[in-house]
Amino acid sequence: MNIRLETPADFREVENLTREAFWNVYRPGCTEHYVLNRYRDKPDFIPELDFVMEEDDRIIGHVMFSKAIITLDDGGVFPSWTFGPISIHPDYKRKGYGLKLLIYALGKAREMGVGLLQMEGNIDFYSHAGFDLASKLHIHYHGEPRGAEVPYFLAQELIPGYWGGREGTYCPPKGYFVADENPEAFEAYEATFPPKQKLRLPGQLGYEG
Ligand SMILES: CC(C)(COP(=O)(O)OP(=O)(O)OC[C@H]1O[C@@H](n2cnc3c(N)ncnc32)[C@H](O)[C@@H]1OP(=O)(O)O)[C@@H](O)C(=O)NCCC(=O)NCCS
Repeated sequence: MNIRLETPADFREVENLTREAFWNVYRPGCTEHYVLNRYRDKPDFIPELDFVMEEDDRIIGHVMFSKAIITLDDGGVFPSWTFGPISIHPDYKRKGYGLKLLIYALGKAREMGVGLLQMEGNIDFYSHAGFDLASKLHIHYHGEPRGAEVPYFLAQELIPGYWGGREGTYCPPKGYFVADENPEAFEAYEATFPPKQKLRLPGQLGYEG
């Protein structure tokens, strides 16, 4: 198993991997491969934290990081970071690869001075890499009431004390909403991949049977 930076020669393979990993997981089909496709040119993208994982002479994992901000209660803006999509190919899921990739990337992020990360995800996975509910750091999620339990909104100080006991609200960077903003462009991009069946499945967001 090898982890290295992504190169332009990997782009298509990694987008296909992202599509395979996310397909029908959170919704029928997925859009995360398009997010990645559009993100690499954005100023928020961090090329030094754009990793692929190789095994059996193929790319089986990927993770990217982004600059982000937290709007402080006092009106200020606090520089922070987020990450995702993170993908492990379906054939290699639940074998420890995702955690290895994430812990490696977090170590590199810390070395670069990344002090705080917040993101949406399943605590059952991310707690193994040091994440906890963001509400414990008094970081709130946009669109959710202040006192609400937001079990999917997680955070971690990579540099202890970086957040410094502040209070604020996080909204993911605009780059994560590209498919919603431009559905026609997304559909045109999606059509360049082999067809896959979209299914509504239990466990997806908003699934009601
Ligand atoms: C999420 C993902 C990156 C995890 O990588 P992985 O290699 O499958 O996970 P690991 O084997 O390293 O998991 C380590 C531990 O985390 C937990 N875990 C991992 N995936 C989990 C999940 N989907 N739900 C609940 N717990 C999970 C388990 O405790 C697991 O240990 P176990 O298998 O012994 O029970 C990968 O499954 C994936 O690509 N999923 C689809 C895309 C996705 O959801 N990305 C994350 C978006 S937030």
